Amino acid sequence: MSPRQAGPGPLLSVAGLTTVFEPPSGRLTAVDGVDLDVFRGQILAVVGDSGCGKTMRSLSVLGLVPPPGRVVSGRAVFAGRDLLALSEGERRAVRGARASMIFQEPMTSLNPVLPIGEQVAEPVRVHRRASKREALGAAAAMLAKVGLPDPARVLSRYPHELSGGQRQRAMIAMALILSPQLLIADEPTTALDVTVQRQILDLVSGLSRDTGTAVVLVTHNLGVVAQVANAVAVMYAGRLVEDAPVEAFFEGPAHPYGQGLLASLPRLADRGRRLSAIPGMVPSLSRLPSGCHFHPRCPRAFGPCAGEVPPFFPLPDGRRVRCWLYA
Ligand SMILES: Nc1ncnc2c1ncn2[C@@H]1O[C@H](COP(=O)(O)OP(=O)(O)OP(=O)(O)O)[C@@H](O)[C@H]1O
Ligand SMILES: [Mg+2]
Repeated sequence: MSPRQAGPGPLLSVAGLTTVFEPPSGRLTAVDGVDLDVFRGQILAVVGDSGCGKTMRSLSVLGLVPPPGRVVSGRAVFAGRDLLALSEGERRAVRGARASMIFQEPMTSLNPVLPIGEQVAEPVRVHRRASKREALGAAAAMLAKVGLPDPARVLSRYPHELSGGQRQRAMIAMALILSPQLLIADEPTTALDVTVQRQILDLVSGLSRDTGTAVVLVTHNLGVVAQVANAVAVMYAGRLVEDAPVEAFFEGPAHPYGQGLLASLPRLADRGRRLSAIPGMVPSLSRLPSGCHFHPRCPRAFGPCAGEVPPFFPLPDGRRVRCWLYA
């Protein structure tokens, strides 16, 4: 268990999760032995460069990795049961009612030939056995909460009749309608204007506060992290490299990669100065450096970094860091 939080055990405990793709060009490990706990009422932000495995990690937990990808090892214990050991039918039941996901790409989760209302209402009909009328009423109320104007009319619209941002909000409504215990939100607000973004983030934080929903929020936006998250998990090239309370992360990430991420944020006080970027490029997952994947770009690399994969080292302030500097 992570030292991050005392008290009752985690709602979701992921251990040793490894997901690979094996195209003809060679095997690549998209998620490499990730361990991570998520607690009730927690909003855990997952950050890291594009392609580092944030989406695959989320999809792996829910058994949704698209072929030819597959989870090759690990556990994802949710409310006492390993989701990875369930049958697809059992997993579908959990996904519908107690764990839901907001996908990065709205069109992957909306059915193009069904009206929005039916889709948003479906979980209520299936899992609460509500009548069609009741379920549509609940759907309209939820569409209003995610800020869609004129929800009664949106009910009868088809996905292609909505804008990208409207589709994203319909999908968010569908994911939130049953107040899930676990919500995995993959870049939920990227296509939205700041005011709508604020509204959605408030809705998600309110849900987490009021019903104890645990939220895993995948985002590129460190401003969003600062606004709503209480913990931050940093990924680099398929691995989790730091897991920290949000205050500790913003005071100063422990891992040199996290330090580079934060230093590349523009600040008003630094206007006119060059932003510091992390030197070098994110490595291809099919040709990863040995040892710590970050070592070729790391300004603080030394002896063991190229040779051995660092384990997690716990720090006194509650974080865990995979970096030899803390050995
Ligand atoms: N269909 C696929 N075939 C082969 N490899 C894939 C496939 N989908 C994803 N991958 C690999 O998995 C890695 C992780 O992808 P993932 O979508 O999890 O990244 P991400 O961190 O969510 O990136 P982004 O921030 O751009 O959404 C990618 O680097 C890519 O190499
Ligand atoms: Mg992604």
